[in-house]
Amino acid sequence: MTNWRLRAGRWSIRLTLRQGAAYNFTSLTLLQRIIVSQVLAQTQSAESISELASQALAELDAVPDADSAEQWRVAWLGRRGQITGILRSIPQLEPELRREVGTAANQARNLLDEALSRRIRELAEAELAARGALDVTLPGRPVVTGRLHPTTQIVREVCAAFMAMGFSVVEGPEVELDHYNFEMLNIPAGHPARDMWNSLWVDYVNEDGQQPMLLRTHTSPMQARVMESQEPPVRVVVPGKCYRYEATDATHEWHFYQIEGLAVAEGITFADLKGTLYEFARRVFGADRQIRFRCDYFPFVEPGVDMSISNFVDPATGRRPINRDEDWIEIMGAGMVHPRVLEGVGYDPQRYTGFAFGMGPERIGMLKYGIDDIRHFYRNDVRFLRQF
Ligand code: PHE
Repeated sequence: MTNWRLRAGRWSIRLTLRQGAAYNFTSLTLLQRIIVSQVLAQTQSAESISELASQALAELDAVPDADSAEQWRVAWLGRRGQITGILRSIPQLEPELRREVGTAANQARNLLDEALSRRIRELAEAELAARGALDVTLPGRPVVTGRLHPTTQIVREVCAAFMAMGFSVVEGPEVELDHYNFEMLNIPAGHPARDMWNSLWVDYVNEDGQQPMLLRTHTSPMQARVMESQEPPVRVVVPGKCYRYEATDATHEWHFYQIEGLAVAEGITFADLKGTLYEFARRVFGADRQIRFRCDYFPFVEPGVDMSISNFVDPATGRRPINRDEDWIEIMGAGMVHPRVLEGVGYDPQRYTGFAFGMGPERIGMLKYGIDDIRHFYRNDVRFLRQF
């Protein structure tokens, strides 16, 4: 605090100047300005400014919340703040003082600016911590990424087993022509074998009054499509969805997956069929699981078989893989490709032979994981799906 008394004739001015306070020079008379600048010249120095800055920093440290921090900013750095006042007074200073005071005041302002931002951040973090809103030391919550559907997992596993034996994977249309679903497979119109596949026909009638399209009842139509598109040797597996107009029960669904297989070349025999399917079963079920072939009839193979996997009671657990009173569960039809099918696609049946098979991956999953109802696969119950 500096008291200053000036006399000029009848005029007497008393000024009380607080060190570093803000003075609005434009509101002062010329005389007052001269006096003030002289007083300032004597009170302001780099040292006094840095003292002032220390005082400001100490006050800032004691500020308890964001509102008080704002008050502090107004008092020190606001338009009428103390540091601003010093900066404003510079033009009134003696020229030799301006540089020193200017530099010191600018440094002080920058210092206080930075300190204020830091303090505001500190206060905000402390407030969050006090509310318990965020503990930055806790590990993050795991993101649920989901998983592949069990059917997809089994389809991939089965395809991988055949790929390891030199098969490639192809896919085909789910809405299929009668031509491929039946006719090319040696099942002409009116043939009683069509009753083996209860079909869902597409509501479309062509110019000849026929209804030529259906939801494919099996993946076998891809046999003809693949052979039409290439010359032998052929070795493919075809995973995909099929549809049948059928009542559902524990082992039947009206929509389900199949994986078709086809191998055609010179000199392929029934021994190749059995060897390939044994190897597949060994890879997917392990070496201990028993396999059974029986004669079966499919119009597009000769001879035809079906293949079952053992559902015997496991002595270790006293349970069957699928909880049904059956010792064998059929998982696929198979056989040697019928000569008429080869002829139909333009292959010479005297020269080429081959085998084909079609299996149900859901049933494979049921046997492998002990699922006793195929309908679980399509219920979308996450309690079921999460187990795989
Ligand atoms: N497509 C037949 C079915 O769905 C299975 C099969 C495929 C049989 C290939 C023999 C050869 O029942």
